[in-house]
Amino acid sequence: MGHVKKLKKLPPEREKVETVKILRQLSRTSQSLGELKGIAKTIPNQAMLVNAVVLQEAKDSSEIENIITTQDELYKALASKRKQPAQVKEVINYRKAIFAGFELIKRQDFLRVKDIKTIQKTIIENNAGIRSVPGTVLKNDKTGEIVYTPPQEKDEILDLLSNLLEHFNINQTDLHPLINLAILHYQFESIHPFYDGNGRTGRILNILHLIINDLLDNPILYLSSYINEHKSNYYKYLNQVNETDQWEDYILYMLKAVEETANNTIKKINRIKNQLGITIEKVKDKAPKVYRKELIELLFEQPYSKIEFVVDKLKVERKAASRYLKKLEDIGVLKSEKVGRENLYLNTELIEILKH
Ligand SMILES: Nc1ncnc2c1ncn2[C@@H]1O[C@H](COP(=O)(O)OP(=O)(O)OP(=O)(O)O)[C@@H](O)[C@H]1O
Ligand SMILES: [Mg+2]
Repeated sequence: MGHVKKLKKLPPEREKVETVKILRQLSRTSQSLGELKGIAKTIPNQAMLVNAVVLQEAKDSSEIENIITTQDELYKALASKRKQPAQVKEVINYRKAIFAGFELIKRQDFLRVKDIKTIQKTIIENNAGIRSVPGTVLKNDKTGEIVYTPPQEKDEILDLLSNLLEHFNINQTDLHPLINLAILHYQFESIHPFYDGNGRTGRILNILHLIINDLLDNPILYLSSYINEHKSNYYKYLNQVNETDQWEDYILYMLKAVEETANNTIKKINRIKNQLGITIEKVKDKAPKVYRKELIELLFEQPYSKIEFVVDKLKVERKAASRYLKKLEDIGVLKSEKVGRENLYLNTELIEILKH
């Protein structure tokens, strides 16, 4: 494997990761993220928000692996009882892994190697665990050229992971947590502890790191869409750190990713909030007998609703649930669609918002 460079432990030299340019960008990024955290708090039911963005991320993050699944197919697959195609399954696993990670963080406020393994295992659905057989290299997709050789020995991988987690769990350097986020993400990807799923696992660790550091309360900021759109730079800058230990471009990239994504998420939340208000008014006005706060919230938690969901959430009989949904369709809040034998009810306006 030729001239293999040994991956350094954390932390990197301070002057390489805290330049003037980085600090300037950092203040913009912090501002956007702070705003996102504040706006998220104004949504009455956090499940509505989290569900919407998590599914989008699960789709985008899996798409990096060239799984093409439309948002509509996904919602339908989630709501219906029918057997799920493999690609949808993969997206659903990713979503499960985000929630599993979030639950861990809420419970214990730190991560262990074991927890990272749990997250990766949820995504990949096999028991391979940490790499123990040498031979993994990272290649350029197009040329097949080896661009990076991660550590090969399991002992070294474990040693590097425990160093990573020391910095993940406790800020050892008093670097800003957003700078740390970038550093930790680079380090995780470069350790590349698994045979597969390192990218997706690393992207989940990013969001957990934001939550551990109180930069967000809920898992609502995801970088996959930005990374997909700026993928060649992402790889280029990771490589630049590998090869020359120059961090500035890479850290700026990650900070910009957080800033832009936070701004887009703020817009999306505002649209959802607005639509929620419109829907509440419409139902109160045109179907006052059916109006229940929980019912409207359900329509925003599950863009595809069905009788069963209403029965569970409102604790009403099937007949009543069915009547509510039909009434909501009559006044134009929902649109029904038959999938297999089931009737699904689409919140079409919400689905439009989530698409963009
Ligand atoms: N030169 C590099 N140095 C460090 N990490 C890299 C480099 N090139 C790619 N990576 C990381 O490896 C990840 C891909 O690894 P892997 O295939 O195990 O993950 P995945 O989740 O299956 O795929 P993907 O991230 O493409 O969805 C990329 O997302 C990137 O973060
Ligand atoms: Mg892969």
